[in-house]
Formats: sequence, structure tokens, C-alpha cells
Amino acid sequence: MTTKPDVMVLYEQRPKAMAQLEQAYTLHRWDKAADKAALLAEHGAKCRTVVTNGHAPLNKAMLDALPNLKLVACSSAGFEAFDIGIMAERGIALTNTSAALLDDVADTAIMLLLAARRGLVAADAYVRSGDWVKHGMFPLQRSLKGSRLGIVGLGSIGTAIAHRAQAMGVQISYWNRSPKKAEWPHSPDVKTLAEQSDHLVVTVAGGPGTRALISREVIEALGPEGLLINISRGSVVDQDAMIAALRDGRLGHAALDVYAQEPTQEPSLVSLPNVTLYPHHASGTVETRDAMAQLVIDNLAAFYAGKPLLTAVKL
Ligand code: DGY
Repeated sequence: MTTKPDVMVLYEQRPKAMAQLEQAYTLHRWDKAADKAALLAEHGAKCRTVVTNGHAPLNKAMLDALPNLKLVACSSAGFEAFDIGIMAERGIALTNTSAALLDDVADTAIMLLLAARRGLVAADAYVRSGDWVKHGMFPLQRSLKGSRLGIVGLGSIGTAIAHRAQAMGVQISYWNRSPKKAEWPHSPDVKTLAEQSDHLVVTVAGGPGTRALISREVIEALGPEGLLINISRGSVVDQDAMIAALRDGRLGHAALDVYAQEPTQEPSLVSLPNVTLYPHHASGTVETRDAMAQLVIDNLAAFYAGKPLLTAVKL
């Protein structure tokens, strides 16, 4: 009988995927271990692979307890909870699932754009509360068609958002660290993009390189009529500056899937009327979560078969 390879599971996948993994591998499951340090100490050295998610920490102490680690198969697009520097130094490969969640995340950006532009959350409350009966017609909103969307980061998600918005008659422009060969105009910097846009959608990856890229200046350049949409990471936006601008009318509206802290929220944010809030759930559909878990399984299978990884990330 051949022994099954040992895999350290730092973040549980969908039950169907866990059952599949259980069949092919000997799993060491972090979430099920009463003593997590003992789990790593006892089984870490046997594991050449880790299954996890970018929100679950993978720090130096943990990497030290996994001395034979060769692959981290991650079921998310982002991975800012990992010590990427050490992984790169030690030649540990990383795979993610951007390819599987692209469409749902782009759909979420469009959903937030439309919901904020047409006042969906306030309109829903207007009907439920009886205000429609008491006060008559809901205030007029603004059309999406003909409006200007600035996209911060033209990667695969930014591009998918651009195609969707363009099909709805929205004018697109973008900023990317290095300009792309794209059909849309490139702005020299994020502030200029904000000045020339009605809505700004943030799609760049999180991490130290993009921290507070959406600064107070950018927020003010978007202005009192402007809408800020964030579907990337809370760290990319200066949240205190955003809240102050929303409160004082220097920014019109923010539609957010991601926050500086999650899931706890600052009362000063959630008490604002001019925000539309989603609980970091852009990839939260059955189809996409299944596809993400499948990609993790397929990357592991490729690794153990000595084949090229399907979605390797360049570290
Ligand atoms: C991702 O995949 O990075 C999304 O933010 C969900 O975690």
C-alpha cells in the first residue's frame, strides 16, 4: 500500500473539497487541532504542501515549522497574511485562485456601482418603512450611462470591470503602475484619474506597495459628487480620510466590499448614510467557491504528479 502524502491544512476548504483531499492525502487540520503549536511541531516536517487562504497567517515561525515546504496552495486571490519574502528566499511556490473568482468580483464591482448610483439601499428602506406612502416619490438618482469610471489597477479584474461597464455605456479610463496596451486612456496618476472620474473603482492588490494609495488628496479629487468603490483590500484606502470626507460632504458616497478591519467595523463608518456596505463577499457564490477549491485540488495534484502548477504566482 502506498502512503498518502502529508498536507498541512491551515484553512478549511468547502466540505466537498475536504472530502476529496481526505481521500488523496493525509491531512493535518489546523482548525480541528486543540493545540496548534503541537500540530505543527509533530507534523510540520512531513508536509511538503500547505492548503490555506490568504487571510490565514503564514508567518516566519510557522514557515520554520514547515522546513520541507515546497508549495502553498491558496484559495484566494490575495495573500497578504503570508511572509512572502521568506517564501521567495526558500523557493516555496505559491498558487492562488484569481482565475476562478474574476467574474464574480467584477460583477460585485458593477453591483456596488449600480446600487450606489441608484440609491438601492436607501430605496429599499424607503419602501419597507412606509416613507413612500408618507412622502411620495423617492428622490431622483443619477444615470449610469454616460458617466465616467476610473479604474485603479488594470489587471484581469480591472479589465473585466471595464468591459462590463463599457457595455453599459460608461466611459472608462484607468491608472496602472505601468501603462497597459489597452483601448482606454491611461491617467498619469491616481489623483488625475479621480479628478476626471465620477466613480473610482479600486482593484489593485493589497500590501505595503499600495497602502493608502487612495489618499486624502485622491478622495478630495473625486469630490462631493464622487463615488469610491473598493473591492480590493481595505488597506489601499486611507479609511480615516474617507470617513471624514464622507461625513463632511467632500466625498459623495463609498461602496465597499473590504475594510481596514474585518469583520468588526468602526461605528463612524457604519453610521454614515452615504455608504453601501458588502461583507467582503465578492467571490461568495457557490459556483466560484467550488471552482476556487477545485483549483487548490488541481494545483496539489499537479505538484505531486511533477507537472507544472496551474496558477503559480510570481514571488
Ligand atoms: C480574495 O480571494 O482575495 C478575496 O478577497 C476573498 O478572500
